[in-house]
Parts: sequence; structure tokens; C-alpha cells
Amino acid sequence: MAVAVPSEPPAFEPFPYRGDALFAEGSRLSDLAERFGTPLYVYSRTALETAWRGFDDALAGMAHQVCFAVKANGNLAVLDALARLGSGFDIVSGGELERVIAAGGDPGSVIFSGVGKSREEMRAGLAAGIRSFNVESVSELERLAEVARDLGRVAPVALRVNPDVDPKTHPHIATGLRSSKFGIPIEEARAVYAKGAGMRSLRMTGVGCHIGSQITSLDPFRDALRRVAALVDELAGNGIGIREVDVGGGLGIRYRDETPPSPAEYGAVVREVLGGRPVTVFVEPGRAVCGNAGVLLARVEYLKDNGGARFAIVDAAMNDFIRPALYDGWSRILPCERRGGGGRALYTVAGPVCESGDFLGRDRELDVREGDLVAILSAGAYGFVMSSNYNSRPRAAEVMVDGERVHLVRRRERADELHALESRLPAPPR
Ligand SMILES: Cc1ncc(COP(=O)(O)O)c(C=O)c1O
Repeated sequence: MAVAVPSEPPAFEPFPYRGDALFAEGSRLSDLAERFGTPLYVYSRTALETAWRGFDDALAGMAHQVCFAVKANGNLAVLDALARLGSGFDIVSGGELERVIAAGGDPGSVIFSGVGKSREEMRAGLAAGIRSFNVESVSELERLAEVARDLGRVAPVALRVNPDVDPKTHPHIATGLRSSKFGIPIEEARAVYAKGAGMRSLRMTGVGCHIGSQITSLDPFRDALRRVAALVDELAGNGIGIREVDVGGGLGIRYRDETPPSPAEYGAVVREVLGGRPVTVFVEPGRAVCGNAGVLLARVEYLKDNGGARFAIVDAAMNDFIRPALYDGWSRILPCERRGGGGRALYTVAGPVCESGDFLGRDRELDVREGDLVAILSAGAYGFVMSSNYNSRPRAAEVMVDGERVHLVRRRERADELHALESRLPAPPR
């Protein structure tokens, strides 16, 4: 069947070279580094908004809600910008719920995912009036029913099913295979719906699935959705009317030379498979909204040659950006001010952390000198949110550019703040 693909939004390049200087929208990145220091995350508001709208437009004409996956980037300004567009949010903890509320997001458009919700988190979600709990096991269903009953509430529930589809991505970010901890095996779902339907403190409203992240082909999405659609039809036949289908997130982005489908192409598959059913569609993109809307700036501290291997040691490290170490993540690394090219060499770009796994890129051809600035591209998703204080390194600052304007949206941590919650031992007894 031919699928109508809505027209693509015009391409927007948030981090272009102008002459030899790299910019973020209207701001020169080297100016931002001077002003705010490094390491520094820089986000483009226009890029964020354009990507979010891509999903919203892709589902236009179907009842739908784009729920940004907070885990990809939880900065309040990012959430605020998206909430102002009408975004809902996909959360996986009580902390993320607090962030959404602090950013002005509507709890009524929040979906609570995750395999390990505590009673406390369930109570917080119920008190806030979230849209749905995506339940991932029978034990969780029973716990939620008990918590809701004790509060005198009825909890809206979608079952997250595991469709056993291989998303063909890095094993650490594949979630829809039977071997992963996520979801309820799809063939067991019917019995779990029947159980939930018999619990008075639950309202079984939806079905959800999320098969993985950085997925660069439509086939796994189509396969998973077909299985979910068949379940919806089967449940309808058994008198359980599913009104909401959460298709998850996972659409990939271009880091290097990947050619992921566009949100419009992805939306066309959602229409093709689910169209005609009286359901509201939720989609939970994270990476595809914010991944290419952010860069990480770092300054070259030292160049060194260990007899065969050349290193550019920069002031950002695996504690700031762990994707390369954790999932072999590859991000383009560009000089913020281009030189003539005469000093070009192959470098491993590494940080100061005391681990051999601390690198941001290997075998990168760069013309850089000590003191130069480099930008690690495609760092807007799973970047700052996964950063840590390992080696007692204060976490980076974050700024958001918006045309000509620049907002500091998280100030740099200070070293003394890192041990502010700790205590020395009591004085020894005399
Ligand atoms: C339940 C759920 N929804 C959405 C996402 C967002 O995925 P992505 O950033 O790949 O779009 C994730 C991430 O793994 C997830 O676990």
C-alpha cells in the first residue's frame, strides 16, 4: 500500500560554519566558551523545536500526543521549551516527574514508564494526576492497584508489552527482545489485561511498546506495531477497549553516516498500521528531538605523542559525555575555529579522567593546537543527563541559544558543592 508522507520541514542547520568559525544559531561558539568556560553544553532552541514539530506534524490528523522522553535531556529549559509547544513527557522516575512539573509541564500529559517504580513514585504520579502508568509486570500491576486503592484513586494503566522484535541497534539500547528486562511478553498480555480489568482501582486504557533506541530502519517499528495492533484488535474482540497506543521512542539520528528515517516517514508507518482504529497515539521520542540540537565544547589542554599514538587531551571527559565509552557512541568532532589544515594529524581525543576508556573520539583527523576549542557534535541526547562527578569533576555548564540570545540554563558546579552532602566522622572520644 502506498503511504502518504507529509512534506519535510525545511532543513535547519543549528551549528554551521560561517567562514572558519563554528556557530550555534547566531552565537560564535568560541565566544560562548570564553564567556561560560569549558566543558560547556550548548543547545539550539530552534533545533529542538523544529525536531519536536517534525513528530507533531507527522501525526497530524490522528489523535496524538508527542511525549518527549525526559531521560534524553532533562534540563528545565529544554523541558520548558517543549512544554510551551504542547509537549507531553515520558518519565521513568519520581525525579523526572518533579522536573517536568518544575519546568511548567502538564502532569496530565505525563506517561510513567520503567520497570522498577517504587510505591513512593506511584503515589507521586497519582497525586500529580499523570496520564498513564506504563506497567511492565504483574507484580507492578498488583502494587499499583494496592497503592491506588489506599489513596482512594483509580490509576490509568497501559501495559508495556514486549513484542520480541530485534531493533538492530547496540545491544545496550535494545529493549524489545524477550531477553531484555522490559515489558510483558506480548502473548501473556491478554491474561494480564483480564486481571487488571477485574481490579477496581485500575482503569486499563492503553497498550505501549518501546523496542530500543537509535533505530535506523522502519522495519522493526512496523513489525512491533503490527503485533501491538493485533493485540488491540484481539482485546477489542474480548470486550477490552484500548483507547491509547503508545508507540514508544527510539527513532535514530545521524551521528556519522547513518540514514535514519525522518519523523514523517516514521509517522507514515504509524498511520499505515494503526490508522482507522479509534485510539489516541502517544509517541515518546528523546534522541531524535534533542540529539542533534546540542554540542559539547572542550578546550585542548595538551597534545601528546606516545610513540605511535597521538592524543589531544581536552578538558571534557567521560564523566561529561559517556556515550563513546558506554556504547561505542561516535560523534563528529570539529574545531570551533578552523586552521589552514597544515597541522592536520590523526588524534585520539581524550579527557583527563584516569581510565583508558576515557575518550571522546578515536582516530580523528584534526588540525589543532594546545588552547584550541573543539565541538563534540550530536551531544544533546544522553549527554549531560548521563554525566557524573567521577574523579570529583564538577559537571559542565549548559547554555541554550535562541537566535541571537543566549541563556545560561545550568551553571557550572563548584568543587566544594561535590562534597557538600558528605560528613567527616565524629571527633574521636577523649
Ligand atoms: C520507554 C522509553 N520511551 C522512550 C525512550 C526514548 O528513546 P529515544 O531517545 O531513543 O527516542 C526510551 C529510551 O530508551 C524509553 O525507554
